[in-house]
Amino acid sequence: MSKKVLVLTGSPRQLGNSALLADAFIQGVKAAGHTAQVFETAFHPISPCKACDKCWTKGKPCIFNDDFDKLAPMLEEADVLVFCTPLYWFNMTAQLKAAVDKLYAYMKPHAPRKLNIKECVLLATAEGNEADGDYEGLKATYKAIADYLKWTNRGMMLVGNIGNAGEIIKTGKLKEALDLGKNL
Ligand SMILES: Cc1cc2nc3c(=O)[nH]c(=O)nc-3n(C[C@H](O)[C@H](O)[C@H](O)COP(=O)(O)O)c2cc1C
Repeated sequence: MSKKVLVLTGSPRQLGNSALLADAFIQGVKAAGHTAQVFETAFHPISPCKACDKCWTKGKPCIFNDDFDKLAPMLEEADVLVFCTPLYWFNMTAQLKAAVDKLYAYMKPHAPRKLNIKECVLLATAEGNEADGDYEGLKATYKAIADYLKWTNRGMMLVGNIGNAGEIIKTGKLKEALDLGKNL
């Protein structure tokens, strides 16, 4: 069955390591007959959640006017959500986290629309690596979100030891990302 995949990227670097990882994954997703959309959180203004608890009172998830208004319909269509981020201080980037925080609106009992997302994937790049424990914070966050929302984790790719933009090309990990996408 064809799935609708939404990839949320978190890096402010265009053509950076995680962007290349996302591209390879998406190529695999499309080869498998699924559809994929990308939303680059770093290139869309999304204000952090202000805990006003006024979600949906203006007919949309968040009452504030920012690019979450563009992301919301994409989220509502998706079957699979992919988090793709460079590791920033042992977790996802602030840009991606601001978007994730606004999923809060969909958790409200009175939410008129819910998410249909059932599966998720984590793609990440870092200067450090998993063996040294650098990814523990991000992994714990991702797993907690997936558990809480009852989403099935379809894979985590945690690429390590890459700093400069484009360094991922020589790691061979883009092929792995392509295969992960194909097997979704
Ligand atoms: C603000 C900032 C914080 C970072 N924090 C970490 C970190 O906690 N651990 C780590 O291993 N790398 C860290 N890095 C390095 C990036 O994760 C790494 O360079 C990554 O490959 C960048 O991906 P990108 O090219 O997609 O932006 C940090 C980089 C920046 C700019």
